[in-house]
Amino acid sequence: MKPKVYITRRLNGRLVKKIEEICDVKMWEEEDVEVPRDILMKEVQEVDGLLCMLTEKIDEELLSGARNLKVVSNMAVGYNNIDITAAKNRGVTVTNTPGVLTETTADLTFTLLMATARRIVESSDYLREGKWETWSPMQLTGQDVHRATLGIIGMGRIGEAVIKRAKGFDMNILYHNRNRKHGIEEELGVVYAGLEELLRDSDFVCVLTPYTSETHHLISEREFSLMKETAVLINTARGGIVDEEALYHALKHRKIWAAGLDVFEQEPVPVDHPLLALPNVVTLPHIGSASIQTRLKMADLAAENLLRALTKQTPKHVVV
Ligand code: GLV
Ligand code: GLV
Repeated sequence: MKPKVYITRRLNGRLVKKIEEICDVKMWEEEDVEVPRDILMKEVQEVDGLLCMLTEKIDEELLSGARNLKVVSNMAVGYNNIDITAAKNRGVTVTNTPGVLTETTADLTFTLLMATARRIVESSDYLREGKWETWSPMQLTGQDVHRATLGIIGMGRIGEAVIKRAKGFDMNILYHNRNRKHGIEEELGVVYAGLEELLRDSDFVCVLTPYTSETHHLISEREFSLMKETAVLINTARGGIVDEEALYHALKHRKIWAAGLDVFEQEPVPVDHPLLALPNVVTLPHIGSASIQTRLKMADLAAENLLRALTKQTPKHVVV
């Protein structure tokens, strides 16, 4: 008998066919609508494998109703949507998709950094709204990126890829990480700093840590008070790492200069969220890995992890 799998979002037909060679597949057919929780709870009751997105909350409640479940394959590198301890206790393998999205996410991180520094969205709106009446000396002036100091919090693969881009702009680079990485200090010429020192000295602070109970609200009121008044915060990791209320106050009262956000504490972020009304915030709808090529690679890798786990081979990327 073929193992049963459930896929929580419509994936491309070619890939689904490949999974169907080995598995009985059911799939939520929508592309832009999340599978409702009650439907997901029901579907997982019988399946051996689940291929899910970061929008699905895989918690104890869901896992306890999934008696046959052997693998949860998350189509994302981050897996804070999954209760890893609960999965481990139940002997459910969890996999993710690192590597394939590293360069694409670094591209977006740097794009957002530059767009925020140079007020690109605000400037475009200014023109379209008919406000452009003349050229003037200090009109829409931003912050220089080149030779500025970049502080990266969380030094993984994406951090390293961001460093390579920053080097092209002659940036000075500080990083903070749970474990100091002497290798990259030598190889890439970056300097380790304590969190406080990094916040104090950086012109751009870039958040790239995983989201865990330890990094929840890592950047809050106190951290903003340490930052420069000209500092720009960039978050392309997870919303919950930054305390949004504290960020709002820091931006509103110009304790920091601007923020570029691809992620939010609640996603989709409500359109009436106070942060969205500030001119010095650039916001994106969680598109870090969103290139056509990379999203196809992530789907392929998620499928491969799933199939390997269901055919007693070791998946490429096992979380637990
Ligand atoms: C996206 O945010 C991911 O974790 O892959
Ligand atoms: C993710 O791939 C990271 O390690 O930063």
